[in-house]
Amino acid sequence: MNTILVGAQWGDEGKGKIIDVLTEASDIVVRSQGGNNAGHTVEVGKEKFVLHLIPSGILRPKKKCVIANGVVIDPVALVKEIEGLEKRGIKLAGRLLISETAHLVLPYHRKVDEARENRKGRNKIGTTKRGIGPAYGDKAARTGLRLIDLAQPKVFSAKLKARIEENNAILESLGGEPCSFREVEKAYLEAARKLRPFITNTVVWLHRQLEAGKSLLFEGAQGTFLDIDFGTYPFVTSSNTTAGGSCTGSGVAPHRIERVVGVMKAYTTRVGEGPLPTESADISDMLHAMGREFGATTGRARRCGWFDAVATRYARMVNGIDELAITNLDGLDTLKQIQVCVAYECRGKRLLYPPNDAEELLHCRPIYRKFPGWQKSTTKVRSFKKLPVAAQKYVTALAELTGAKLRIVSVGARREQTFRV
Ligand code: IMP
Repeated sequence: MNTILVGAQWGDEGKGKIIDVLTEASDIVVRSQGGNNAGHTVEVGKEKFVLHLIPSGILRPKKKCVIANGVVIDPVALVKEIEGLEKRGIKLAGRLLISETAHLVLPYHRKVDEARENRKGRNKIGTTKRGIGPAYGDKAARTGLRLIDLAQPKVFSAKLKARIEENNAILESLGGEPCSFREVEKAYLEAARKLRPFITNTVVWLHRQLEAGKSLLFEGAQGTFLDIDFGTYPFVTSSNTTAGGSCTGSGVAPHRIERVVGVMKAYTTRVGEGPLPTESADISDMLHAMGREFGATTGRARRCGWFDAVATRYARMVNGIDELAITNLDGLDTLKQIQVCVAYECRGKRLLYPPNDAEELLHCRPIYRKFPGWQKSTTKVRSFKKLPVAAQKYVTALAELTGAKLRIVSVGARREQTFRV
């Protein structure tokens, strides 16, 4: 079965962990959008891995992984990630394939990202400063450089020179530091040499695998409300994080997709700026005091709130979510009472779906339904039936309010702290 896995909230839903579980029944794991702004955490036994560009499937030795055309790649960061995994005994040769048409993130993208954020001051997006927006901006403006360019050093150097000249002028106007052509050229050509064995035409390779009956699992990065089209624009990332992005980002046709799995936390979190209607200082303080909800990529404390079914209902609709995985249920173990937002009240109207204008979202007041807490640890539970009854009712309600089948529940970071429903 070919499956797309997406985040149904604002990212950080625990996708890496669910991918790791679903990988068991798949042959190939594909990343098709985003870049090293992502941080997918997987805990295997006593070991913890945080993956930024490489699909989480790499942790299962028999599986193959693809970084497809829709991903933006910082080759220096990717080499570091590859070497880090190899040092920990994970073999990548013959298992990792990287698209030659994926666009590059260059140092000037990172600098422009940072300089733009600094200029915005209070209105900043709160990006990860990994250069993601400017890299996708260059792709859309048709001024991007791709991995395929690195295969021809002379052509690459000429293109890079022109791009650095233009971007240094932009950086100067933004008050940022210029880039050195020689330094970037050296670092990128060196990284290209290390990446060469992995680079290929992944579109053709993926189609051959499909013809051979292999199954694909698409590892979505970020979440529905960070999608450039469907998120809380402009407080979004610069790619299509929703299910459709998996097809354009890999060259796999939509009719090959047989299932969409949505991952959502049992509450809501967001890192960076922008509206978060159910945000609650109480739940943020509680989760941070437990040492939870700090970003895997930037270490920033995430903003936290009650579960927002208006958001996940919309996520189900735009992604075509068939099945749900609910993560971090154990984060709510100590609460006496839990709230779930079932609709918004906005200027006298009851809304079941979020308004498109992020400004308007600031005027939305959540309408809550209260659920009794279970006040028992769920971290050792390994089946739905063994969950406290109140927890069973809670997760069942989240799935019903979202409108898809509940399939997986996760009660901790480790691989084994997951069960099917
Ligand atoms: P960018 O993708 O670095 O441009 O950041 C844009 C917005 O998306 C910011 O609010 C980031 O915090 C958020 N973001 C980007 N990647 C992730 C992620 O993997 N998890 C959660 N939030 C993310």
